[in-house]
Amino acid sequence: MCGIVGAVNCKNLKSFLLKGLKSLDYRGYDSAGVAYIENDVINMHRVVGRVELLENELSGPINSRIGIGHTRWATHGEPLIKNCHPQKSFHETFTLVHNGVIENYLELKRDLIKKGYAFTSDTDTEVIANVIDKEYENTHDVLLSINNALKIIDGSLAIAMIFKNDKEHLYFAKRKSPLLIGIGTDTNYLASDALPMIKVAHKFIDLSDDQYGYISKDDVKIFKDQKECAYKYTTRNAELLNIDLNGYPHYMLKEIEEIPACMSRLIDNYYDGKEFKFSKEMLKAFKDADTISFIACGTSYHASLIGKYYFEKINKRANVYIASEWAYFPKFESKGKEVFVMVSQSGETADVISCMKLIKKHGNDTLTITNTKGSTLERDATYSCLLYAGVEIAVASTKAYNAQVALLYLLTNAIVENTSSIGLLKNNNIVLKQVISMKKDIKKIANKIKDSSHAFFLGRGLDYYVALEGSLKLKEITYIHSEAFPGGELKHGPLALVEKGTPVFGFITNKCIEAAIRGNFSEVKARKGTVYSFVTKENAKKGDDIVIDDLDVDLAPLAIVMIAQYLAYYTALARNNDIDKPRNLAKSVTVE
Ligand code: F6R
Repeated sequence: MCGIVGAVNCKNLKSFLLKGLKSLDYRGYDSAGVAYIENDVINMHRVVGRVELLENELSGPINSRIGIGHTRWATHGEPLIKNCHPQKSFHETFTLVHNGVIENYLELKRDLIKKGYAFTSDTDTEVIANVIDKEYENTHDVLLSINNALKIIDGSLAIAMIFKNDKEHLYFAKRKSPLLIGIGTDTNYLASDALPMIKVAHKFIDLSDDQYGYISKDDVKIFKDQKECAYKYTTRNAELLNIDLNGYPHYMLKEIEEIPACMSRLIDNYYDGKEFKFSKEMLKAFKDADTISFIACGTSYHASLIGKYYFEKINKRANVYIASEWAYFPKFESKGKEVFVMVSQSGETADVISCMKLIKKHGNDTLTITNTKGSTLERDATYSCLLYAGVEIAVASTKAYNAQVALLYLLTNAIVENTSSIGLLKNNNIVLKQVISMKKDIKKIANKIKDSSHAFFLGRGLDYYVALEGSLKLKEITYIHSEAFPGGELKHGPLALVEKGTPVFGFITNKCIEAAIRGNFSEVKARKGTVYSFVTKENAKKGDDIVIDDLDVDLAPLAIVMIAQYLAYYTALARNNDIDKPRNLAKSVTVE
């Protein structure tokens, strides 16, 4: 949510800022902007819309080596030029970009207005700039001003900031929103994500909450409460370098088709040919636990539901909580040992981070399952497992979901030392590739439903969990209203919504529910709704729309969800939507 880049002593500043923002714009794409010092003046360019527009605006060369940039996902104030970042402070002492939400910004703004400050935007970002500006008027010390501002400001922030026309230093502060430093050769960088820096920085520094400081061409200073902090260098996965479309028209399509490779990579990372490679200490913590509680949002929540099923299969009690709910109504098991599993592709989801803080305070062990090495949730957990799915650029998550499910499958089998599961997961890849070979048939269905206003997904058992994910995929990128129900619930209300031609997608991957779900199909057809059935061979009947080979029931979600992912993709394509960047959404949800 919002992307930040910055660099000091960067010879190719324009290229770094623009390429960096492009690599981040899947995190927010309402507006974009940059500021840099040229001939002792701060130049600022801001556009409403995508980074490509900013690129047009910056067609000439830039004679500068220090600058900051931003892509925005609007929280305070509409996407208008005045609300784009960077924002300047009242005395033009500071120019900054910001990611996060300031909770007390109205109160602070009122206070500043009383003291003679005028505002040009509706943003909370301009309030940060002016709080630091006001402190600077008193202290004439930049670092002390940032420190004091952090004491006054409530909420989340990652900022990169230029001070007057100081060409040597770029200032920063971080609380709750992600920010890290990249160390290059004679150049240092700042960004909200490693991606923009991966080609130019050879090591990184992960910042912690309430740290602030500056980077110069060859130095980094980090402080907290006016005390200098020591820091450690970290690295990032080379997988981050693979962000090209490789001939695909959209990242979403590329990412769906990377799923079989992700499955193989997961096996290689967690199984050495003889035994599982998970941390022994972590496996023991799970073996000793009485309850496993998942905390996640959106797609990761749907993967967690399947994780709950896998844990229950190995006789562990399991709960799944939506992070934004649990954060307000936390619940800890009163008896026995409870281990929490935080599932988050980005590792930066603010709602999950809030829960993590409460859990740590309570003293429970946590496992983070994430695709992002070095992310906040990965760093803060007792244990972490990476998904090795490679960067996911499309806002709609696909391969990361499959990797989450497969990892949970491997983990639960590792706990009970069932290595035969590896063979099943390997064989499953044959069916995943079969789904890829059937994409044309799925596209035909997409073309039939493209003008629908509503759609419904039905399943029972694991198929219901996949139905939830299929429905989310469809609504987020096609903007067709879609809901998912357990088949049996249909007649308890939702059936009232089925009209002539309403598409209802049903999944059948388990013999034990075949008759029941076919009964639901009949109920839909009797109301003139149109059923599209996605089934495995052993459950197939004449007239089923997509039939895939039989597979292990526990692994069926991995294949069936791909059908739903393709369905959403091709429907969005037929509706001419911006598939990789659906309206109103952003990839990493770093605000609560
Ligand atoms: C939907 C999607 C979201 C995310 C959710 C949580 O396609 O990607 O629903 O799953 O925002 O994000 P993470 O997994 O990064 O915590």
